[in-house]
Amino acid sequence: MESTDSNKHVKPETLDDLIKVLHNIFESDNINVEEVQTIMEAYDSNPKEWKKFAKPDQFRYTRNLVDEGNGKFNIMVLCWGEGHGSSIHDHTNSHCFMKMLQGKLKETRFDWPKEKTKGEMVQKSEKVLDENKCVYINDSIGLHRVENPSHTECSVSLHIYSPPFESCQTFDQRTGHKNSVKMTFWSKYGERTAFETKVSQENN
Ligand code: SIN
Repeated sequence: MESTDSNKHVKPETLDDLIKVLHNIFESDNINVEEVQTIMEAYDSNPKEWKKFAKPDQFRYTRNLVDEGNGKFNIMVLCWGEGHGSSIHDHTNSHCFMKMLQGKLKETRFDWPKEKTKGEMVQKSEKVLDENKCVYINDSIGLHRVENPSHTECSVSLHIYSPPFESCQTFDQRTGHKNSVKMTFWSKYGERTAFETKVSQENN
């Protein structure tokens, strides 16, 4: 992995600053995971800067696109109502960075299910993320489920996926059975996206 020394000690003062630095970093095809994680954590969450993107829903978590990163990455704000959670899913061979902007999220990691043997999926770890913390996962590390463990507080997170992807695989915890699902945006650039009429197959 290549290191971009110029970004090592950068502290983005605002969300806009962070996005500018990320544009710079993701120009390269060699991503230094630690460097991105450090810069994501160095940004101190300021709700005034991300509120316009944080559009919640009563029934499930929402994905709100903030920037398309010149086609190299997507950065988005996810809003998690009380008890909302994702399915167990993969990341379609992309990098996934997840930083907490508000509240807490529980991340549970799993091994990939064995192709032929059906049965309960193997849990690898469980971690509760506090505000400003950033975790990283990709398909070689495993699969994960993300949940808001609180029954009284919403949580908000900032995610980067590089390269961007529009579908992923979800997994049934009891059998390991997988399904391909489309990922959609609840809003883009602060504007609610058009309603879809067909039944959602999303990851939540
Ligand atoms: C994640 O993989 O970090 C959360 C799920 C999603 O992007 O919908």
